[in-house]
Amino acid sequence: MMSDDLAFIHRFEPGNRLEAPPLLLLHGTGGDESDLLSLGRAVSPGSALLSPRGKVLEHSMPRFFRRLSEGVFDEDDVRRRADELADFVEVARVRYGIAAPVALGYSNGANIAAALLLLRPDVLAGAILLRAMVPLSQSPQVDLRDKPVLIVSGKLDPIIPASNSAQLAALLANAGADVQHSVLPTGHQLSQTDLTVAREWVKVTGFLQTKEAAT
Ligand code: MLT
Repeated sequence: MMSDDLAFIHRFEPGNRLEAPPLLLLHGTGGDESDLLSLGRAVSPGSALLSPRGKVLEHSMPRFFRRLSEGVFDEDDVRRRADELADFVEVARVRYGIAAPVALGYSNGANIAAALLLLRPDVLAGAILLRAMVPLSQSPQVDLRDKPVLIVSGKLDPIIPASNSAQLAALLANAGADVQHSVLPTGHQLSQTDLTVAREWVKVTGFLQTKEAAT
């Protein structure tokens, strides 16, 4: 289903397995709401999929927040856009009757998902962050207990230094999140192993709280 009558142009696919957590799909720079649908279906078969298109345009490429240069973010915009996206998720949950989703974000989408965890943690049941960075230089105090988070980084990623993804993992773990950080021998692009790792993580994690919320 394609819809633009909520605050974001988005696609929604209903789920057909109650125990599968809804996924909030967040594309990378230059992507759109269709980009991650097949990845979402593969990572968690039967999940409802909610997939918005980022509203910020960088040379006509959609993103979820403004940046000053590669890896340097406009943090006021990060905060504003995270709020706007969180509000959209809340309204969409009611519209489509879904539990709090697990974010599945890639690159810029993973960075806004990390910002959601830090700024509006209640909207997410957990997150899969593929090639994510620390989104804010000053992170707020937040309680992420009961939020499982998978970070998948590329050892050869030219955009994200290993120290930055390690710092993100530590930051989220210190806030109480149950973090798994997998570092793959790859770059910024996704590989088949990302899919395998993410699918396994969804299976093992189980998302009991999502199941309870959905029943
Ligand atoms: C970002 O701007 O979020 C990161 O630099 C990743 C990217 O979108 O290339």
